[in-house]
Amino acid sequence: MDNKRYGHFDDQHREYVITDPQTPWPWINYLGNEDFFSLISNTAGGYSFYKDAKFRRLTRYRYNGVPMDNGGRYFYINDGGTVWNPGWKPCKTPLDSYECRHGMNYTRITGSKNGVEASVLFFVPLHTWAEVQKLTLTNNSNEVKRLKLFSFAEWCLWNAATDMENFQRNFSTGEVEIEDSIIYHKTEYRERRNHYAFYGVNVPIQGYDTDRETFVGLYNEFANPDAVIEGRPRNSHAHGWSPIASHYIEVELQPGESRDYIFLLGYVENKQEEKFIAPQVINKTQAVAMMARFDSSEKVDAAFAELCDYWDNLLNIYTANTGNEKLDRMVNVWNQYQCMVTFCMSRSASFFESGIGRGMGFRDSNQDLVGFVHLIPERARERIIDIASTQFPDGGCYHQYQPLTKRGNNDIGGGFNDDPCWLIFGTVAYIKETGDFSILDEMVPFDNQPGTEVTLFEHLRVSFNHVVNNLGPHSLPLIGRADWNDCLNLNCFSWDPNESFQTTENKTEGSQAESLMIAGLFVVTGKDYVELCKILPDHIKAMQNLKDIDFAAEADRAQRHVDEMVDAVKTHGWDGEWYLRAYDFYGNKIGSDECEEGKIFIESQGWCTMAGIGLEEGLVERSLDSVKERLECEHGIVLNNPAFTTYHVEMGEISSYPEGYKENAGIFCHNNPWVIIGETVAARGDDAWNHYKKILPSYVEEDRQTLHKVEPYVNCQMVAGKDAYRPGEGKNSWLTGTAAWMWYTVSEFILGIKPHYDGLLIDPCLPKTAHDYTVTRRFRGAEYEIHVSNPNGVSKGVAKMTVDGMPVEGAVVPAQPGKHIVEVVMG
Ligand code: BGC
Repeated sequence: MDNKRYGHFDDQHREYVITDPQTPWPWINYLGNEDFFSLISNTAGGYSFYKDAKFRRLTRYRYNGVPMDNGGRYFYINDGGTVWNPGWKPCKTPLDSYECRHGMNYTRITGSKNGVEASVLFFVPLHTWAEVQKLTLTNNSNEVKRLKLFSFAEWCLWNAATDMENFQRNFSTGEVEIEDSIIYHKTEYRERRNHYAFYGVNVPIQGYDTDRETFVGLYNEFANPDAVIEGRPRNSHAHGWSPIASHYIEVELQPGESRDYIFLLGYVENKQEEKFIAPQVINKTQAVAMMARFDSSEKVDAAFAELCDYWDNLLNIYTANTGNEKLDRMVNVWNQYQCMVTFCMSRSASFFESGIGRGMGFRDSNQDLVGFVHLIPERARERIIDIASTQFPDGGCYHQYQPLTKRGNNDIGGGFNDDPCWLIFGTVAYIKETGDFSILDEMVPFDNQPGTEVTLFEHLRVSFNHVVNNLGPHSLPLIGRADWNDCLNLNCFSWDPNESFQTTENKTEGSQAESLMIAGLFVVTGKDYVELCKILPDHIKAMQNLKDIDFAAEADRAQRHVDEMVDAVKTHGWDGEWYLRAYDFYGNKIGSDECEEGKIFIESQGWCTMAGIGLEEGLVERSLDSVKERLECEHGIVLNNPAFTTYHVEMGEISSYPEGYKENAGIFCHNNPWVIIGETVAARGDDAWNHYKKILPSYVEEDRQTLHKVEPYVNCQMVAGKDAYRPGEGKNSWLTGTAAWMWYTVSEFILGIKPHYDGLLIDPCLPKTAHDYTVTRRFRGAEYEIHVSNPNGVSKGVAKMTVDGMPVEGAVVPAQPGKHIVEVVMG
């Protein structure tokens, strides 16, 4: 396997610089972080959408095409018959130079050919429903250059799912308008839609095309559109078929001259009564106004500077200076950046998630919060309310909701019994970060039904109770359809290849299937719930709806259930050297030494060690040692071992994957941090660090780009495990809970700066050889500069701490306004 490198980090600019367009897989970035989003690859492939990648897809994209990543926003330059693109694709004309810089919500692609340089800056300005494309053409040659420039975007007919299937309708609905230099896409605007899209440029155009086949030619491709090759736009007007938007601009550049062109791909919603200005003529006021906001380089540069300041500000909330550049660049930049993306996208749109399969996950989005809440707490708050609003009165949950409608749905199944616990997990993280207990007083409906509102606290209570009310024969939590591992389907018994494991009938009637993963999760989140109940009386004075609750009694009640769960795990969930994974439908053990395959699983080791179950008796350490012995490999910790080699109908989808992939013994990066946190519970800083660095992208980046394949600047969901054909190969990059869990792990458990109800709890867990380090942390309006030194080379334990020179009892830095210097000595 060659060790070719395709790029490198530029830490100073917070960019990843790709120097070869032929990366082992498209390496993408995300533009936009509010309502308007774009995915963009290193060759400018990808698409845009408003809020919801399924219901409001603006531009078309073909997944799994050949060649891959075909379609995007393309600029074609016809320079005297030589046709090329700044991002190499789709023409693939060899370039004289190429560079793609992926930064914080922007991408800059620069190519040059025959003395002409074309550089495009792509970004979505803050609070704007549009993608800006600032194209700078420079003539570096000694002769006058006369170029023919064509832009290109292909419209999606809004609903990305039907766009790809309902051709008997689609081919007749397409409608556009062209006015000045703006091409408007107004399909279905005449009837039920109040929105349109547009693609404009800030200079007069000399032609255009809006009909795809006319522009491309029926037997050509994006690589050689007729209009571009001939250097002659057709001025086509789309009626049905496949509408596109292409501007044609004639460019003349003197030697040394450089010129900017600003393109805007935008989205507009109009009021019903303001939709039209004349029969069939759409109201373009907002689009024209938006164009005016970005019609000069100065305006665009200012908007770009604003975006960069926004990121400076976000990334200054938590910065680490550890002396290890690989660690620092992930902590200070890329891990937090990926957390923003997973917060915005959940698991909906990436180059592995088609944007039509999944929306916002109940479980997923709650977990994403621990990576995001420190960045923009107000948005985390809104998200928690949105998620809770989809819950059922008994604490059960829809597994996902669509971002546009915010309504829960069963499209990817339901009845996952871990789901409710995650609401406690996410909410507690929010309150610890902000100190805002008032969120618990908010009235939140069930299943979005008006009239069903109860407090958010009540939602947490029913979440807790959902586990308590669904215990199995060993007093362990019944698994339902599945727990976090939605491929461990203990109640499906599916023999029909035409049904999905996730949505087929869930045969829980009479089932004894119990989950040790949920047991551990319940103990962790149950303890949180108890703690919350204990301190709430100090915070409810200002509240409307929480006054009459006996929190002390609730805390006692909850504590009893947590204690009983701990007992149940010790009695029925310990296999001798590790925690069992589950009991199946019939009450047989899963993840036991007695099993032939799948003797040990990571999830229960992670959660039961995080929960500290049996810490005193040594169970935690033994479990973690078993993980090292049986699950750890060169590239991380695999999910289970031995891998399943045959289909086990009583376990479902997990055993449908070939060995080493996905949930069947893949390195499912999401759950590695659970073990790492478990190691910090056991105070084993060296082991925690070893596990952590194996899946830290900056370590992979060094010499495994070809093997790893996917973007080396973010985590992927899965890396092929030791039993796979190509161990170490990554898949499903970007949208994974790994981002939030890596952040939570390093920020709170390794570097050890934990938001706490009263302040910041300092509790690092380090390799013994760790250097001294500094973390700066903005927290509830104050600023803390925390210096940690480790003179005796210990892994855990704070011997001494001062705040602004004054000694502090314990390890909590009290939350107080102002700027503070904290000195921490481990020992
Ligand atoms: C899903 C998670 C799930 C995990 C393990 C991910 O793809 O988004 O909800 O817990 O897979 O099956």
